[in-house]
Amino acid sequence: MASSFPSASSAKADPGDQPWSQRFESALNPVIAAFNASIHFDIALIEYDLTGSQAHVQMLTHTGILPAAEANAITEGLERIRQEYRQGQFQPGIEAEDVHFAVERRLIELIGDTGKKLHTGRSRNDQVGTDIRLYLRDQIHQIRHQIRQFQQALVSLAEDHIQTLIPGYTHLQRAQPVSLAHHLLAYFEMAERDWQRLGEIQQRVNISPLGLGALAGTPFPIDRHYTAQQLGFRDLYRNSLDGVSDRDFAIEFLCAASLIMVHLSRLAEEVILWASEEFGFVKLSDSCATGSSIMPQKKNPDVPELVRGKSGRVFGHLQSLLVIMKGLPLAYNKDLQEDKEAIFDSVITVKACLEAMTILLSEGLEFQVSRLQAAVGEDFSNATDVADYLAAKGVPFRDAYNIVGTLVKACLAEGKLLKDLTLPEWQRFHPQFTENIYTAIAPEQVVAARNSFGGTGFEQVQQAIEVARSQLH
Ligand code: ARG
Repeated sequence: MASSFPSASSAKADPGDQPWSQRFESALNPVIAAFNASIHFDIALIEYDLTGSQAHVQMLTHTGILPAAEANAITEGLERIRQEYRQGQFQPGIEAEDVHFAVERRLIELIGDTGKKLHTGRSRNDQVGTDIRLYLRDQIHQIRHQIRQFQQALVSLAEDHIQTLIPGYTHLQRAQPVSLAHHLLAYFEMAERDWQRLGEIQQRVNISPLGLGALAGTPFPIDRHYTAQQLGFRDLYRNSLDGVSDRDFAIEFLCAASLIMVHLSRLAEEVILWASEEFGFVKLSDSCATGSSIMPQKKNPDVPELVRGKSGRVFGHLQSLLVIMKGLPLAYNKDLQEDKEAIFDSVITVKACLEAMTILLSEGLEFQVSRLQAAVGEDFSNATDVADYLAAKGVPFRDAYNIVGTLVKACLAEGKLLKDLTLPEWQRFHPQFTENIYTAIAPEQVVAARNSFGGTGFEQVQQAIEVARSQLH
């Protein structure tokens, strides 16, 4: 996206060149023209603008406002502009101000005076609202598809690692071991909510403002239901003042986009930690890691770092649109032109991050299974299980908890792990300990035992994978 400010030098000084009415006697200062222009970024809306205009013009003839021959000429002219744009031949400059004026201008160049009838019964305010909604509807559809692919990659990886154990943390301190699949599926669940949320937001994006006019409706006998239906909108705005100035749907989208980035960024952060020498849980494959310009031994996790870093811009865009909206009197104000770069950049960022993280999951992570196995066997993350063991034998849990506390303290003093204690040593702490304590504290058993619904027990994880798979189909 060209987000740089356009140069003023290409602005023309002839007032006849300006797209608005003849009430103006002198030309716009070229710097102001450049300042006012949005064509350098709202060109991204062109396909939606053309589609919206085609529906509008069909409605004009359907309602008898415009003869069919004229409507056909306009429709064809718009289609030519679409082809010109796709072939790279239509590159309007800032003299057109924005994409809407650019298209209208070109239409008049192509088909003559009939083109001047396109704008009958609508305004750029309902037009731009229509364009953004069509754009977002399309993009949300694409992002939801990408979320599905990301989830697919998570489930595939989880399937390979049901039996792989990884330390589970709270406070970034080792807490209890979990199945690596369970850990990965936590992200599947977050992504599932993201997918659902976007579906719900889509309902409110998909409402037509077309035909609301500048702010008050139009005296032409237009048929808003007709255009809404043509464009696949599921409903219509019922109040013109609200409809031309509402950007709630865009703010909701930026909230959803921010949450997607929160989730991707948390996963990214874990991958970065796991790939460090200190953790050593994962090696990054060459196709997804980068080198250092000076330290030849290094392999850097640039992909997850960028995802983590890019989350900031999406949060910033959400904040910016909230601030843009909060002081606006009804109805349209030019401030609203500032919504576009926030929306476009968020869409581009979320899509790029989802794509990169999906590739990272599919081919970028080599989990170091033996390192993980050693990690879960060499700590006190089975201490809760010792307390549960006693509690299951009738010792009140709080007493059991305190007994294990002293046990861990004694082990630490002697540089031992729980599994290193002999049976007589165990029994010095409590007579209820018997030979099966060793199986009870083995990491596999510790994980398997947590078979409560939603827990990390292997049976639960297996079922969760099946549910996840069925959600993807
Ligand atoms: N480029 C403008 C925008 O993005 C289009 C609407 C202009 N409307 C107006 N009344 N000046 O908001």
